[in-house]
Amino acid sequence: MSVQIQAETKVGVLIVLSLLIVSFGGLAQIVPLFFQNSTTEPVDGLKPYTALQLEGRDIFIREGCVGCHSQMIRPFRAETERYGHYSVAGEFVYDRPFLWGSKRTGPDLQRVGGRYSDDWHRVHLTNPRDVVPESIMPSYPWLGENALDGSDIQAKMKTLVTLGHPYTDAEIEAAPAALENKTELDAVIAYLQSLGLHVKQRR
Ligand code: HEC
Repeated sequence: MSVQIQAETKVGVLIVLSLLIVSFGGLAQIVPLFFQNSTTEPVDGLKPYTALQLEGRDIFIREGCVGCHSQMIRPFRAETERYGHYSVAGEFVYDRPFLWGSKRTGPDLQRVGGRYSDDWHRVHLTNPRDVVPESIMPSYPWLGENALDGSDIQAKMKTLVTLGHPYTDAEIEAAPAALENKTELDAVIAYLQSLGLHVKQRR
């Protein structure tokens, strides 16, 4: 008498065994990512967003910029020639939530920091067609008119501290003052100018 389990003829057994093997395969790939330095440690020089950049990032989310702009350069020549070094996990340690995006109606913004002057962004965000005549990007004229509301910046920073962002008490203390007399446009520009500066293109 054979004690062999003929799994392929018993649907229930086949399903259970398949699920076991698939879960093991998944865990074997995913679990190490939580313990590797390359995925959990910030890249050299990366700092958490300043108060102004943090507000800019929240406005970027509010305005839905991520619907047209990814922040994720894939490791293909066509991408790295155009945008710069491909994205690495350690660049996103202080990004909560991630803004990788999945749609590129406009260009990827992962390495846009330092590519244009603040003044260029000021004109471009207010009316993109003033600098790129064929642009289909919407205008955001209200950003320059709205004063920044910094009332919850300290609460935001304290929440991020609980998640491991190394803000000091002094930085949190000074945050509201850093937002005084700033517009939403100033904040978005500060955020854009901070993007992707810490991984240099290898030539
Ligand atoms: C409907 C799609 C769309 C939305 C929404 C959008 N953009 Fe754009 N964006 C574009 C397109 C298309 C371009 C390329 C033409 C141009 O430079 O204006 C562009 C270009 C840019 C550039 C220049 C990038 C480069 O490398 O030349 C920046 C910076 C930018 N957008 C920021 C933003 C920000 C910030 C927001 C949200 C406030 C936003 N965009 C919302 C479509 C969009």
